[in-house]
Amino acid sequence: MAIGIFDSGLGGLTVFDAVQKRLPDVDFLYYADSANAPYGVRESDDIYNLTVAAVERMWALGCDLVILACNTASAAALRRMQEGGLPPGKRVLGVFVPLIEAMTERQWGDNSPPREVAVQHVALFATPATVASRAFQRELAFRAIGVDVEAQACGGVVDAIEDGDMILAEALVRSHVDALKRKMPRPEAAVLGCTHYPLLQSVFQKALGEDVAVYSQANLVAESLADYLTRHPDMLGSGAPGFVTTGKPTKVSDRATQFLRRQIRFEAA
Ligand code: DGL
Repeated sequence: MAIGIFDSGLGGLTVFDAVQKRLPDVDFLYYADSANAPYGVRESDDIYNLTVAAVERMWALGCDLVILACNTASAAALRRMQEGGLPPGKRVLGVFVPLIEAMTERQWGDNSPPREVAVQHVALFATPATVASRAFQRELAFRAIGVDVEAQACGGVVDAIEDGDMILAEALVRSHVDALKRKMPRPEAAVLGCTHYPLLQSVFQKALGEDVAVYSQANLVAESLADYLTRHPDMLGSGAPGFVTTGKPTKVSDRATQFLRRQIRFEAA
């Protein structure tokens, strides 16, 4: 029995780690589409097609529920997949909504009209495709009014992380934070809108300053999944748990082991 967790590469491991700690009795199948990462520099249709192919593979491997632990895939594919109709008994969830609910102080499923919230100046750090989609601003506008969002497309960060070049990744983060601050000198909150970025959370925090509340998705998604499973205990699926990748399993395993600081073994998807 396993729930699917999908990302273009290694970023979704930040979500995997949090959900596994929150739900230690639940098994997970992690799918990294490493051969096609990064998604964040691709066109929306391309991201949609890659995401659908991966999710269909995970369904075939026995997952009934797949979490898109990737903002870029969530932005380009989630709504389109749900509106297009899913096969009976299959579900896909994304990572935006739990974060926006937390920022706008809402409980799950609170569909009341948008209202004023505590934060007014929010910095969004995400991939170029996520920023271009404006999906974050759209979901926020359903729930909150008067929030000013300044988005910074963080080109290069995902590639550097996937290549294991953390020195480059850190330098890029600092320069993207500088660029954001030129547009919005005093954000009250910052959203790490890419599941790779929590691997550099302390770098974001230091560059932004200690008074900026940095929201990252892993724990919020874990809470929201725990809540979902109490309402849908039949979504555990029938497939085997593990880690699969479209990339080179040895290389992906080495990086994953480095990030999670425990032995992770990927197999070919
Ligand atoms: N972790 C993915 C996200 O959340 C990275 C996207 C990419 O592959 O560029 O957006």
